[in-house]
Amino acid sequence: MCELYSKQDTLALRGKHIGPSCKVFFAADPIKIMRAQRQYMFDEEGERYLDCINNVAHVGHCHPEVVQAALKQMELLNTNSRFLHDNIVEYAKRLSATLPGKLSVCYFTNSGYVSEANDLALRLARQFRGHQDVITLDHAYHGHLSSLIEISPYKFRKGKDVKKEFVHVAPTPDTYRGKYRENHEDPAKAYADEVKKIIEEAHDSGRKIAAFIAESMQSCGGQIIPPAGYFQKVAEYVRRAGGVFIADEVQVGFGRVGKYFWSFQMHGEDFIPDIVTMGKPMGNGHPIACVVTTKEIAEAFNSSGMEYFNTYGGNPVSCAVGLAVLDIIENENLQENAVRVGHYLTELLNEQKAKHSLIGDIRGAGLFIGIDLVKDHEKRTPATAEAQHIIYKMKEKRVLLSADGPHRNVLKIKPPMCFTEEDAKFMVNQLDSILTEQMISNKTPSVSSHNTIQETHEELPSNSTMESTENHSRKRNGMCPDKPALLSKRLKTER
Ligand SMILES: Cc1ncc(COP(=O)(O)O)c(C=O)c1O
Repeated sequence: MCELYSKQDTLALRGKHIGPSCKVFFAADPIKIMRAQRQYMFDEEGERYLDCINNVAHVGHCHPEVVQAALKQMELLNTNSRFLHDNIVEYAKRLSATLPGKLSVCYFTNSGYVSEANDLALRLARQFRGHQDVITLDHAYHGHLSSLIEISPYKFRKGKDVKKEFVHVAPTPDTYRGKYRENHEDPAKAYADEVKKIIEEAHDSGRKIAAFIAESMQSCGGQIIPPAGYFQKVAEYVRRAGGVFIADEVQVGFGRVGKYFWSFQMHGEDFIPDIVTMGKPMGNGHPIACVVTTKEIAEAFNSSGMEYFNTYGGNPVSCAVGLAVLDIIENENLQENAVRVGHYLTELLNEQKAKHSLIGDIRGAGLFIGIDLVKDHEKRTPATAEAQHIIYKMKEKRVLLSADGPHRNVLKIKPPMCFTEEDAKFMVNQLDSILTEQMISNKTPSVSSHNTIQETHEELPSNSTMESTENHSRKRNGMCPDKPALLSKRLKTER
């Protein structure tokens, strides 16, 4: 595949025609990705990067069976869901079978991808009992629509928007750095009691709770795994107040945690959310998302008399893609792979933790792992500059990682599910060499605010002034040996 433009021209055109708030990763020297396969991405020079971040390419970048499924259906028919079609019902049936029995009604969405699903989940919740207020977790991100920015402290705390009066922010159930830690006698109860208090205070001021929304494991918030029993207690309080529990499985669903298909299932069989939203990995890069709920909530939504029509939500092509993804997860034993490789990777990382004092905590499940970097183990002071430094250095070593969390000090690992033990070893070896180098030189990298990673929800460093020289051993990918000189020339005159 040839480049249409030189990298420089692509950048220039992007600067001219794409909104400036759409950030690129590594802004000073962005990566131009031309193609990808399985867990690898290739730049315009054919240089291979190990992708440790792309949970959207769940079953592997450009999986041929997903591509074929889309192609085959695209050749035959693609239309809206007002026509009867087998794909939508078959997919809804298959998806429901992965969930507890009472979660059996699906609404498919596409535009806005997952944000649209979370927006619809809020509408369902509000229609259910006519309540308005939403409880969200601190540092949560649930999407880019106005309705979701309002309930995403990750975003609204950074913008000029103030918290809306119908939004209530509960502390993140983070037992490493949060309000109640692992040495607390019952952090699940303590964090759930915070939600209870919020509900009581809302009632005192005449407000009514429509929903509590949370990711089953918080991703942007810093790879947080809530303590066992927390969700059960929260669900009890929220339901007692007439609200519903919305589990956002956008980042962590579809078997990422290995043992379970959905991350909320880690909390035990006695915990079942009222609404589950899903997307990203669902279409392996094709835009499809979904809200699954109970019959009771769906009927309440219907009782408003308003039709739910979403032109391309649940179209035959998207559903064919979704079905292919489900088949691949099963046929390629990707959940087992997540258990095995995730376990191996965690072991390797724990060895690193024993070796490098910068690593404060390793947490995760399956192929969803966080490395919390700290300056000191006692106070757990976030090592933000160091995290940024490592991310850039890893990029030089051709490993794509990101750092997130409120202090941007948590290295996030959420690779395609076909990630292997060999990949895990390679990634950890690179990390080890960077940490060792840093220990020897014993200098904290200075990172100015200009240099820190820009806030995004699929974040990678956006400025690479910290980068040292590029790896010069670039290989050609053999697919497009010559730069499109003509196009380059034309663009230069256009600027
Ligand atoms: C937890 C969570 N929910 C919702 C979204 C919104 O997804 P999209 O960007 O596809 O609309 C994201 C995106 O990163 C997310 O991380």
